[in-house]
Parts: sequence; C-alpha cells; structure tokens
Amino acid sequence: MWALPYTSPLATTSNQRLATNHQPPVLHSNTMETEIKKVNLAQKFGLVQDYWHPRITGALNDAYVKLVKLKGEFVWHHHEKEDELFLVIKGKLTIKLRSQDIHLEAGEFVIIPRGVEHCSVAAEEVHVLLIEPQSTLNTGNVRNERTVDSDWI
Ligand code: NI
Repeated sequence: MWALPYTSPLATTSNQRLATNHQPPVLHSNTMETEIKKVNLAQKFGLVQDYWHPRITGALNDAYVKLVKLKGEFVWHHHEKEDELFLVIKGKLTIKLRSQDIHLEAGEFVIIPRGVEHCSVAAEEVHVLLIEPQSTLNTGNVRNERTVDSDWI
C-alpha cells in the first residue's frame, strides 16, 4: 500500500530554519556591508592638529565615538542629559571632580555620569577616545569660546 511519506511538523520547521539560515541576515540600518570599515586610532589621531576639538570617528546607536587631543586645562562643566566615557589611548589625563581627582593612564577609562561637574587637565598632550550621545556639547552646560562643533574625520 502506498502512502505519502510522513513529514512531521518538526521536520518541516527544521527544514525551514535551515533554509532561513542560508538567507542573508536582515540589516536594520542603511549601511551596506561593504561600507563597514575598521578605524585605526593612530592614523585618525594623526589627522588631529589642534587641542580640545573632538572629532567624530564613528556612530553607534545614539552615540558618537570621538577622538580628541587635550593639553592644558579645560573649563568646569556638566552635561544635563549625557553620560560621557573617557578612554585614554596615549598619555595621562586627570579628570577633576568636585570631590576627587581621577587619574587615567593609557588603557584606562572612566564614565562621568550626567549632572556631575568635571574638568579635564593634562600636563602633557593626551589622546582620548570619547563615547557620548550625539547631542553632547563639549562644554556641556557652558557656552564660551571653547565650545566647538564636532566634525567627522
Ligand atoms: Ni564633559
């Protein structure tokens, strides 16, 4: 007696899953895979000729990855809505808070939460990677001659 081969719902599901695995994943952004490029920090820092002027080198979610060279002392400020990550790539950075100084060496980072007053100080040139929301102004709540727009490099 002939019978149709039995195909269990599980097998069907499994086959569908296998077939699905051979489809390219759905991209949720407009970025083409060929547009994905690595970033070389030394090369990018080589393009930065001035101090206290963060440059954008990447964007993810709602944040930018910025590179900045610092030397000297900045202005006291805070950010109303943005947390700010400082990762030292080269040199030494002190971030003064009202209650303590945080000393960072290459390979160390700190996150300054929104609302916390801070002031960056670097005796010698320091290279810093920042991760912060795209809305972040470098001088936070303060607008003065040290306020700059960040552009892409
Ligand atoms: Ni800040």
